[in-house]
Amino acid sequence: MTAPSASHQLLGQALMARLDELGRVSTDRERLNRQPYTAAHRQAIELVAGWMQAAGMATRVDAIGNLIGRYEGEDPAAPVVLIGSHLDTVVDAGRYDGALGVLAGVQAVAALHDAGERLPFPVEVVAFCDEEGVRFPTTFLGSKAICGTLDPKVLELQDQAGVTVGAALREFGGDPDALASIAYPPGSLRAFLEVHIEQGPVLEAEDRPLGIVTAIQGQSRLAVVLDGMAGHAGTVPMGHRRDALAGAAEIALLVERRCSATPDLVGTVGRLEVLPGAVNVIPGRAMLTLDIRSPSDLVRSQAVAELVQAIHGIAAARGLGCTVAREHDQPASVCAPGLQRVLAQAMRAEGVPVKYLPSGAGHDTMAMAAACPAAMLFVRCQGGISHNPLESMSLPDGDVALRVLLRALRLLALPKAKP
Ligand code: GLV
Ligand code: MN
Ligand code: MN
Repeated sequence: MTAPSASHQLLGQALMARLDELGRVSTDRERLNRQPYTAAHRQAIELVAGWMQAAGMATRVDAIGNLIGRYEGEDPAAPVVLIGSHLDTVVDAGRYDGALGVLAGVQAVAALHDAGERLPFPVEVVAFCDEEGVRFPTTFLGSKAICGTLDPKVLELQDQAGVTVGAALREFGGDPDALASIAYPPGSLRAFLEVHIEQGPVLEAEDRPLGIVTAIQGQSRLAVVLDGMAGHAGTVPMGHRRDALAGAAEIALLVERRCSATPDLVGTVGRLEVLPGAVNVIPGRAMLTLDIRSPSDLVRSQAVAELVQAIHGIAAARGLGCTVAREHDQPASVCAPGLQRVLAQAMRAEGVPVKYLPSGAGHDTMAMAAACPAAMLFVRCQGGISHNPLESMSLPDGDVALRVLLRALRLLALPKAKP
């Protein structure tokens, strides 16, 4: 691998320092938790916008709450190369998921700016407002909006406090009525590039700093509500109970069994709430979520259909009321072959052996593929740990990711470069 130049090492250092700083912007003091349209989201936008401006970018926040910085091209009318990822996090998150892709874009532009270098096309860096889909029962709000694929009905969806997406957005200063106007017109985006930590163990196991994502597996999210009968934990005999939590437990084990039995299928019950939630009360209501993923849309949709049927069966056998809501379905997505080639060329030019791998996690790239060629560069993460405060990556890997990203931008600037 060629040695990183001093200036890129400095950029790598700035990248890691800024990731640490952004990682402290949180709603909760003791853990990283940054949900869309909160004060922490606003604070993150202000911090990153300042860094974008220092890197020579003009910034704006669009009507859905995406922060976008624009570094002008020699030809301002040329289709834009967009780089970015998301600012929102899971609850008790690591500081690299999403933030890395945003700040890698900022640092790459900072390097161009420092060198007084302008590319033929404008480069924009985007910090999407929502990718995790933790606050609202929907996801990819920001990336779908700029692709023009966001269903306006999602504005009516509510968070757990009953606040709708539309109301939260309006309160945040966005404009739910102007979403159509923020979609990039057809042909105005040349490419989308997302740098992201791998969130899995493959690169570390093979001692590789970077990988090129070939495809991203599809995902379905469902919300199940079971209604039984709350009652006295001491007086109601076992055979007379309609215990909603016992039904939920059976469903969680069913998901585990069904998904373990099929290759290329994973399933998770990630949220479970029980009401009234008292030590001496039989649970009257249980609410749980299912997250089902596969690289094969057929395998995923068959599993979801079977699970929904079996869930109703479990509820009926236990005398429980049952509703199952399909909250999110995102088909698997193949990363643009032309852009994968550009990333491979950039890796080789930087002396990094090329590695291809699929993504098990969902990413904004899936949504962006509807608007333009979209591709991803994975960065090795320690222990494959993610969605966890222990999430970690190294400064040298950050350096090399920046060098490859910069090289890819410069390759795209060459005459006849595709896409
Ligand atoms: C986002 O990280 C997801 O894959 O759910
Ligand atoms: Mn992410
Ligand atoms: Mn994530």
